[in-house]
Amino acid sequence: MPKAKTLWYCTSCGNESPKWMGQCPACKEWNTMVEAPVQPATKAAKSAFGRDERRKPVKLTEVSSSAEERVSLGSAEVDRLLGGGMVPGSLVLIGGEPGIGKSTLSLQIPLHSPSLRTLYVTGEESEKQVKMRAARLGGDAGNCLIYAETLLENILAEAEEIKPDLMVVDSVQTMYTETVESAAGSVSQIKEVAARLLRFAKESGVPVILIGHITKDGFIAGPKILEHIVDVVLQFEGENRGSYRILRSIKNRFGSTSELAVFEMTGQGLREVANPSEMLIPMHEQGLSGTAICAMLDGTRPFLFEVQALVSTAAYGTAQRSATGFDVRRLNMLLAVLEKRAGFHLSAKDVFLNMAGGLKITDPACDLAVICAVLSSNFDFAIPSDFCFAGEVGLSGEIRPVAQAERRVIEAQRLGFKKIFVSAYSNLDAVRDATIKVVKVSDVAGLVKTLFK
Ligand code: TYD
Ligand code: MG
Repeated sequence: MPKAKTLWYCTSCGNESPKWMGQCPACKEWNTMVEAPVQPATKAAKSAFGRDERRKPVKLTEVSSSAEERVSLGSAEVDRLLGGGMVPGSLVLIGGEPGIGKSTLSLQIPLHSPSLRTLYVTGEESEKQVKMRAARLGGDAGNCLIYAETLLENILAEAEEIKPDLMVVDSVQTMYTETVESAAGSVSQIKEVAARLLRFAKESGVPVILIGHITKDGFIAGPKILEHIVDVVLQFEGENRGSYRILRSIKNRFGSTSELAVFEMTGQGLREVANPSEMLIPMHEQGLSGTAICAMLDGTRPFLFEVQALVSTAAYGTAQRSATGFDVRRLNMLLAVLEKRAGFHLSAKDVFLNMAGGLKITDPACDLAVICAVLSSNFDFAIPSDFCFAGEVGLSGEIRPVAQAERRVIEAQRLGFKKIFVSAYSNLDAVRDATIKVVKVSDVAGLVKTLFK
C-alpha cells in the first residue's frame, strides 16, 4: 500500500511545507508545524463556488446589480460593523478567546431578530445548555432552530432542507467533514469546513456566521488561512476580568474595516454600548495626576478614552517600561522624544502605561495624550478633567496633525470637554464656531509651556 501523503502546516500562518521544520520559514515562529494528510483535490474543491459547468467571463457593465440588500441582525452595533447588516450569501467569522462572549453574541442575534428563521448549529453545547443560555438572554426564541451536530455533511443537508434566513455555526474547531481524515480542529479540517461553508453560503444565499477560537497570538483559529477564506472577520477583544468587550472588524469585503463596537457583558448577555466614550468616563471626580483623555478615531467613529500613566523612580538599575494596549516601542520612542527635545530625564524612571477599558490603540493621535499622561504623573500635576488631546508626535518633537481632526473636536465638544489640544498645523475650518476651545500646539516644548506652566 502506498504511504499516505502528508504535508506539514504552520498553525500560525498556514504555510505548507513537505517536511517538518522547527521554525516556519514564512512567519518565523518556532514549533508551529503540524502534520496533516494531503487531500486529493475533489472536483467540488476545484470550482470555488461549486458550479461544475464551465462559466464564461462577462462584462462588468453587464452584470446585473440588484440593489444591495442586507439582512439586519437585530443589533444596531453589529449591523453598523458589518456595513449596514449582513450581505446574503456571505460568511462572517467571529473570533475571540474562549469565554469572551462569542456564543452569547451569536445566540443573541437570532433571539433579537425573531423575523429571521435561524439555524443555530452548536458543536460545543447540548440543546439543553443552549436553552438555558437563551433563557438568560431573553428575546423571542420562536423562530430559532437548535441543532447539536458536528458532522458538516449532516449540517449542510439540514440547512439545504430548512433553507434558513441565517445560519450560525459554533464553532469551526468542533466541526469535521468526512472528506478529510484528520481530527476535528486540525488545520486541514478547519480549512475544509470553512471552505465548504463558504461554498454553501454563496450557492444558497444564506448568510452564515462562523465562530472561531483564537490562539494566544491572536490568530483566528490558529491558522491565519481562515481569514482569507471568509468574507468578514469580526474579532472580540477585551480583558476577561473586565466587563467590556470590543468587537472589531478586521476584514470586510462589504464595508470599511477598523470599525469597532463596544459591548458590556451583563447578567442578561451583551449590552450594546452605543456611546463608547462612556467606558472612559473616569471613575474619579476631580482630576488625578497621570491621566489624560485622548480624542481618538476608530474606523469612522470618534470617541474619547482615558490614558493612564505611572512614572516612578526605578527600584532597580534599569528602568522598566510597560504598556498595556499600546505599543511599548512607541512608548519608548515618545519617552526618548521627551528626553531629547524637551529635556525631561525619564531614563531613570519606571514608566507604566495603560489604556482604559482594555482597548488596544493603534491610532497615532494617541501620542499626545500619552506624553501628557506621562508628564502629569512625573510632576504629580493633574490635568483638568475637561481637557482632551489629539495629535501625533514626531521624532523631532513636533506635533503633527491627525486625520479627521474636526470630527474629534465635535465629539469632544458633544461630551462637554472645554479644551482640546491639537497640532498647530491642523486644518479645522469646519469647526470655526465651536464652543470648545481648540488649543493649537506645534511642538512638545510648547505643549509643556501651555499645559504645565
Ligand atoms: P461565551 O459566549 O460562552 O464565550 P465564548 O463562546 O466566546 O467562549 O461567554 C461566556 C462568558 O460570558 C462566561 O464567562 C459567562 C459570561 N456570561 C455573562 O456574564 N452573562 C450572560 O448572560 C451570559 C450568557 C454569559
Ligand atoms: Mg462558545
